[in-house]
Parts: sequence; structure tokens; C-alpha cells
Amino acid sequence: MADTFDVIVIGGGPGGYTAAIRAAQLGFKVACIDDWTRADGKPAPGGTCTNVGCIPSKALLQSSEHYEHAGHAFADHGITVKGLGVDVATMLARKDKVVAQNNDGILFLFRKNKIAFFNGTGSFAGKGDAGFTVNVAGKDNAELVGKYVIVATGSKPRALPGAPFDNKLVLDNAGALAIPEVPGKLGVVGAGVIGLEMGSVWRRLGSEVTVLEALPAFLGAADEAVAKEAQKQFTRQGLGIQTGVKITAVKPGKNNVAVEWTDSAGAAQKATFDRLIVSIGRVPYTDGLNAAAVGLPLDERGFVTVDAHCATSVPGVYAIGDVVRGPMLAHKAEEEAVAVAEALAGQKPHVDFNTIPWVIYTSPEIAWVGATERQLKEQGVAYKAGQFPFTANGRARAMGETAGFVKIVADAKTDRVLGMHAIGPMASELIAEGVMAMEFGASSEDIARICHAHPTLSEVTKEAALAVLGRTLNL
Ligand code: FAD
Ligand code: NAI
Repeated sequence: MADTFDVIVIGGGPGGYTAAIRAAQLGFKVACIDDWTRADGKPAPGGTCTNVGCIPSKALLQSSEHYEHAGHAFADHGITVKGLGVDVATMLARKDKVVAQNNDGILFLFRKNKIAFFNGTGSFAGKGDAGFTVNVAGKDNAELVGKYVIVATGSKPRALPGAPFDNKLVLDNAGALAIPEVPGKLGVVGAGVIGLEMGSVWRRLGSEVTVLEALPAFLGAADEAVAKEAQKQFTRQGLGIQTGVKITAVKPGKNNVAVEWTDSAGAAQKATFDRLIVSIGRVPYTDGLNAAAVGLPLDERGFVTVDAHCATSVPGVYAIGDVVRGPMLAHKAEEEAVAVAEALAGQKPHVDFNTIPWVIYTSPEIAWVGATERQLKEQGVAYKAGQFPFTANGRARAMGETAGFVKIVADAKTDRVLGMHAIGPMASELIAEGVMAMEFGASSEDIARICHAHPTLSEVTKEAALAVLGRTLNL
């Protein structure tokens, strides 16, 4: 006898579990199916983000930053550290504990919101008068019937052709987060978000890191000045970054990996690494979903095809997060999740891709929202830009973190904020002000006239807004 629900959510990542919670809040009877389990056999909802993405990467970034500060920055503060060392096993165990706390937090939220959680693989079995039949197979086995189905099955790492992941020597994101000892030489293919974050973690812990990027430009999606400053800072820290490379061979041996490539000048290069992280993007994950059973269309790249409201062409089936078009970010998945649940309840939600912030949690941090100067030029939009450096900010000086700046771009005529670009301490937190300004249609003068507490890093944002108006106070 099938269990019946109003809404069945397949996938329990930030997209899926948020959709389940919001739908339950709105009065729907909800089931959420997720297949992830921990090493101890317990269910591990939270998806890529919680298990092998956002959360564990930030845990290791935090640990490795403490180590770097203790080794390099503490002396400036008059703090002496003797016998500094790294116990990678303890660091990884702490990361696993943080992950488990988040898994358990989500299970608590399922109970609190009376969501029926199933630990197993959910696959479409067909559609009848009562709704869609979805089978669960795994730790839990069940037959569910739901009026609506939200597909939130996420993404998986893309491998280099001819170099499959073994997670011993050739590592995907999960492997990169679980290297049991600091590699002497670490290769990273792809200078994107994962490459820079994980490259930073292992460099701080002592690896000699070489990052090999195919595109000629470093961080091509970011503001040009931000990308330039980032490359300067990362190079100064010791990340060996090469752009414009073409990987020609990856040959895993017994204890190391030989990599061959041509550099930007076309010269053949090779190196042997103790481990190789391959972080060249991710692809949608629909294995096991049996999308064909209900005629759910996938595009040529494997994404579930949806309209602007995350509706598929199968009435009643929606898809959100990494498995559909748009940026592969946890907060983008969450926004779509809330929007779909609210649309099912008859509301008129809207997700604005232009105000989704991007953050790279390196040191300095990088964050942006809205348009870059390059995009505005391409679009022929007349704009003004204002920039203010952290070197001129009292709090940044007190912290000893003065690299970087905040830039605000605003419409030349109306002064409406069109974008904010930051590289520097806590850029991940500062960007929220830019998102808020854009959502409220604020002008740079609005930001400049708001009282910002002193001494805070947020004064750099205020000064960048003043710079748009040509009247900084502290520069
Ligand atoms: P996922 O999180 O991938 O969740 C999908 C879930 O569905 C998984 O548990 C999967 O196993 C399960 N599933 C799949 N198929 C089925 C099925 N048939 N039945 C049952 N369950 C199924 N984003 C940020 O915004 N900030 C960050 O700092 C950040 N850091 C990242 C760091 C790394 C190393 C990586 C890899 C990613 C990072 N991301 C970050 C991206 C972020 O993790 C994803 O955008 C986000 O997890 C997408 O959420 P989702 O719910 O769409 O999919
Ligand atoms: P990415 O898209 O950020 O970067 C991939 C990089 O690899 C690009 O610079 C690309 O040009 C390069 N590349 C592609 N093919 C290559 C090749 N053959 N050789 C060399 N370089 C090649 O993808 P990444 O880093 O794998 O991360 C996947 C996704 O996860 C990101 O798109 C992002 O959305 C998400 N993520 C988000 C984080 C955050 O928000 N802080 C952190 C980590 C991941």
C-alpha cells in the first residue's frame, strides 16, 4: 500500500530539504527522499553542500587559516608559538563532526516540520490518477504517491577525459576534502572555486601547490581588478597558478601522478604530483531517477529542463538547484526551493538571478553581486564606479588584513547600484549589503548616507559608495 503525499521531494541537499521545509510550513503533507549515508550508516541529508561541499570546505579553510595565522601572523601581535604542528587526522575528524552536526540538524528540522524522511534512492515509477509513483530503494524501501514532485538531485564532479577519479591519487571534491596527510606536491586542475579554496587549504598546511587553468584569463567571471588583485595575492602566498594550459596526459602511478600539459606559450611541460585534484566544474546528477518513466525531459548537457519558475514540461513536476540551469550555488538552490513551494501554495514568488551573490572563501575572500564593469561596457550601459581599499580602514588595519578593496558600480544617470565587487577580509559577509541595495533598488548615495558602525569593515562599502559620488572621506 503506497504512502500518499501532497509533495515528494527527491534529493535532500540545500534545494531539497529547503523545499520540503517550506512546503510543510505551507501546510502540505511532504516526503523527502535522500540517498546519502554516513560512514557509520546513519542518514546524512544535506547533499553535496553539507557532506562534501560548502560545509566541510569551510571547516578546513577555517582550520588551515588558524594554522597559517599561528605560523605567520601571530608574531606580529607579539604572540610566540613554539612547537607548532598540524595533526591532519584531528583536523579531518573535526570537519566530519561539523558535517555530522549539520546532518543531524536537518533530520531535526524534518521531524520538527513533520516531513516524512526516507533514506534511499528515489525513482519515478509512473503516473496514475492519484499522482506520481516514486519508489524508494535503499536503507528505507517504500512506494510513495505524490500530487507534486520536486526533483533536487544535485550535481556530481566532472572528470578529465581519460583520467577517472580514484580518490586516492586523482581526487574529486570528496577526495580533496579527505587527504589523510599533507601532500608534498599537490596539483590542481581548474582554477575555479574548488581549485582555489582547496588549493588554499593544502598550501596553508604545507603543500607546494600548482594550479593549472585552461582559460587564458584568471577568474574570468569576476571583476577584472578583483581577479588581478586575487592573482597577485595568491601568487604572493605561494600558489603556483598557470593559465592558458592544455592538459595532455594524466598518468597515475603507484604513489604519485604524472601530469603533462602545454603552457600558454605552447611549450610542453610535465610534473609529478603526490595528489591531483581535478576541479573543472560539475555536471547534473540524474542517475537512478528514472526520469524517462514520466517523460521528464533532460537537455543535451543532462540538466532537467525547466522554465523560469522551475516547472518542467510534465505538469506537477518541478526541478531546482544544481540539476537545473543557473549557477551551482547552495543559496541559489534554496531560493528556487522556497519559490517552488510557495508557487504550489498559489503564491507568486520570483527568483532574481541578478542578485545572487558569488563568494570564494579564500584569503582574502572574494565576493560579488550584479554586473561587472566589463558586462556593463558590453551592454552599453553608462555607469560610474567607486573603489575603496581596506588599507585605509581602521578595523582592517587592526585585524592586520588590509589587502583588497570594495568596488561599487552604479548607473551613471540614476545612481542605482548595478553591482558590488569585493576582495578582502569578510567579503563574504560584506556582500550582503550590496545584495540588499540591489534588491531595494538603492542608489550608491543611499549606501553612502547610511550610518555604518565604526570601526567596521563595512565602512569600506560606505566609502566605495562615496567614491562613486567622488567624495570619499578617508582617502
Ligand atoms: P545537492 O547538494 O547535490 O543535493 C542533492 C542530493 O540528492 C544529494 O544528497 C544526492 O545524493 C541526492 N540524490 C541524488 N539523486 C537522488 C535520488 N534519485 N534519490 C535520492 N536522493 C538522490 N555553494 C555555495 O553556495 N557556497 C559554497 O561555499 C559552496 N562550496 C562548495 C564546495 C565544494 C567542494 C563543492 C563541491 C560545492 C560547493 N558549493 C557551494 C556548491 C553547492 O554544494 C551546491 O550548489 C549545492 O549543494 C546544490 O544543492 P542541491 O540541493 O541542488 O544538490
Ligand atoms: P568552476 O566552474 O568554478 O571552475 C572550473 C575551472 O576549471 C574553470 O576555471 C575552467 O575554466 C577550468 N577548466 C575546465 N576544464 C579544464 C581543463 N580541461 N583543464 C584545466 N582547467 C579546466 O568549477 P569547480 O571549481 O569544479 O566547482 C564546481 C561548482 O561548485 C562551481 O561552479 C561552484 O558553483 C560550486 N562551488 C561553489 C563554491 C562557493 O560558492 N564558494 C565553492 C566550491 C564550489
